[in-house]
Amino acid sequence: MSKRFYITTAIDYLNGQPHLGHAYEKIIADVIARSRRSLGEEAFFLTGLDEHGQKVQQAAQAEKKNPQEYCDALAADWRAFAKKLELTNDDFVRTTEPRHKEFVQAILSKLHAAGQFYTATYTGFYSAKEETFLTEKDRRPDGTFDPSYGEVVELKEDNYYFKLQAHQAWLIDYLEKNPAFVQPDYRRNEVLGFLKNHTLEDLCISRPVARLNWGIPLPFDPNFVTYVWFDALVNYISVPAAHGDETVLCAPQGSKLRIQKSQLSLWPADLHVIGKDILKFHAVYWPIMLKAMGLPLPKQILVHGWWQKDGAKISKSTGNLVDPVAVINEWGLDAFRFYVLRELNIGPDGNWTDAGFRARYQAELANGLGNLVNRSLSMLKRYRNGVVPARSNELAADAEKIIAETRALLAANQLQAALLAIWSLVNRANQYVDQTAPFRLAKDPAQAPRLDEVLYNLAETCRVLAVLLWPFLPGTATKIYAQLGLSGAPDQFSSAAWGQLQSGQPIGEPAPLFPRKDD
Ligand code: MSP
Repeated sequence: MSKRFYITTAIDYLNGQPHLGHAYEKIIADVIARSRRSLGEEAFFLTGLDEHGQKVQQAAQAEKKNPQEYCDALAADWRAFAKKLELTNDDFVRTTEPRHKEFVQAILSKLHAAGQFYTATYTGFYSAKEETFLTEKDRRPDGTFDPSYGEVVELKEDNYYFKLQAHQAWLIDYLEKNPAFVQPDYRRNEVLGFLKNHTLEDLCISRPVARLNWGIPLPFDPNFVTYVWFDALVNYISVPAAHGDETVLCAPQGSKLRIQKSQLSLWPADLHVIGKDILKFHAVYWPIMLKAMGLPLPKQILVHGWWQKDGAKISKSTGNLVDPVAVINEWGLDAFRFYVLRELNIGPDGNWTDAGFRARYQAELANGLGNLVNRSLSMLKRYRNGVVPARSNELAADAEKIIAETRALLAANQLQAALLAIWSLVNRANQYVDQTAPFRLAKDPAQAPRLDEVLYNLAETCRVLAVLLWPFLPGTATKIYAQLGLSGAPDQFSSAAWGQLQSGQPIGEPAPLFPRKDD
């Protein structure tokens, strides 16, 4: 059985509704998964929800629900959101599922038996109101804590710790020898800088049940639950285990786990797509956890930046939000998918503005791609009764060059650059219409052969574009195919090769892809 390209996203905290940041990350992963499939690889795309922890417990309490009921209701919204984005995920993990919880416990048992954990007493300042420990950084200049924390008391708490420190030198060496492990480069340098300048503190992996009960019980001590990362990160391997992946099933030897019949080969992951705020957990804690389990490391961690709106932090409390569902309902899913990937390269932070969104919609989608497809196919309908003329290769070299560029950029997960390459073909073809002026050729019967050539080049360019666009704008790509009279989805990159549109074939009905919105 051959190993699949395995791509994951962060699993989102289930304490509210999805926003732009969550949508962005999932769309990145979806485009990469679709690209790999289009390029002929088998891919497995995993996303899901991180459902345990204090915030969820508190949110459930606020709604007077038990946490599981609360999670079940909200998880339905998040699954619907994944559908709304037309994500092609192959599984959707919820950390409250038995398949995940049992695997986490099996791993914890193994690491405990191997002496990777120890107990220690932590002393710190605790806010009962926020149910959190505060650090020196939380103090105000006068040394007091903000009144919003309520009464702050010094608390002593026993907990379990995972030995991280022992692996610090190994990890530095690994990151130095594997420059592709964390991308972009500046994120890798950030991790290396951190590791070289700090002594790693061991990782607290538990919380006493008395303080937090919404978690996975430690199998070797019922007074504790696992805390956050030992639960959440393990989703990346608990799901492969559930699908019968032999590599990860070697980790928790001897335990009984529920395994589906599928028997997929997934681990090591090819790509973890995450935001910059959780880099340390993925590039420091996770590799060390895997090493302790005796598992190979993921091949790459791809780190994206954060969106702001109108230059300020996205925040529920200030109402500075972008509601992806509202944008999609008004402008269409593909306009949303296009904007987030075209506007922001994977790496730096970005800024959403409604004006910027409209400007790209108008210029690049409506006037660029939409206008090209609509006028090309309308002219073919009007001047040739919608029947594709004989093959002509005038734009073939331009198209082939851009097909090769796009292929290389997709293989390198350079999504914004791939969109730029694709739009250079859109622009080239629009320029070709202006240069060849088919509407003038149509008035002169002597120019009929020339008009045939022009119309073929335009229709074939539209077809090529549909194939190149498929990972990004699947709905639009499928519409272009249907308007060309082709059935199915343009989901195989190999069919982008020039000249596959058959002469004599009738096209379908042209219709605007991106209706103009005049306001
Ligand atoms: N549950 C943890 C992740 C566990 S992964 C094993 C978590 N959840 S989260 O809901 O807070 O964030 C989920 C993802 O969304 C993270 O990768 C985070 O970086 C991303 N984003 C959250 N807000 C964002 C923006 N404003 N912009 C871009 N991405 C952002 O962390």
